[in-house]
Amino acid sequence: MNFIKNDKCFTLSLFHLKLFNMNKNTFVTTSSVQTKKLGSLLAEELRGSEIICLSGDLGAGKTTFTQGLLKRLKSKGPFTSPTFNIVKEYEVKNRNVHKKNTKYKIRDTRYKIYHIDAYRVNSKDILELGFKDFAGKSNSIVIIEWAERIKKLIPSSALWIKFQWLSEKERKITLGKK
Ligand SMILES: Nc1ncnc2c1ncn2[C@@H]1O[C@H](COP(=O)(O)OP(=O)(O)OP(=O)(O)O)[C@@H](O)[C@H]1O
Ligand SMILES: [Mg+2]
Repeated sequence: MNFIKNDKCFTLSLFHLKLFNMNKNTFVTTSSVQTKKLGSLLAEELRGSEIICLSGDLGAGKTTFTQGLLKRLKSKGPFTSPTFNIVKEYEVKNRNVHKKNTKYKIRDTRYKIYHIDAYRVNSKDILELGFKDFAGKSNSIVIIEWAERIKKLIPSSALWIKFQWLSEKERKITLGKK
């Protein structure tokens, strides 16, 4: 997975949002709406199999970002399960139209989003919840809050997004690889 391409898209899109882009992969948002918008921009880049790791302190904006992402994907859920407070499952149906030799082909894609909150758990707990069965699979997208707590499970291809509290309304958000 090549996130460098995605990072470039981010830079372009956010230019229009007039967010303060400190450097290519760092943004400062000044409201929760802007942080949600950032999440929705990432959503547009997702194709399946991504693992998105969100790190940062309590109240730094990880859930706010995820809400923007889930909304943009028109995701349905969460579907409750015994683990609903650790792993929340959502379903997304994507309808892509491909032009091929003047004929249009419609491809329906269904995939699942797994939103994990690793704050109160460790790697062993997450493994027991079936992490290896869904993470990195072509029809799944995994978003992990407090991903630093289960770092040893995270493949090197994952996208890391660091959230930092600057002031009541300002958050510094940095995209990169760990
Ligand atoms: N620029 C901003 N970006 C994101 N949230 C903001 C911003 N400014 C203010 N806020 C507020 O900060 C809070 C962020 O909370 P959120 O639940 O997203 O944090 P979190 O990182 O998920 O925390 P936790 O680790 O406790 O789950 C919300 O109440 C939100 O309205
Ligand atoms: Mg949260």
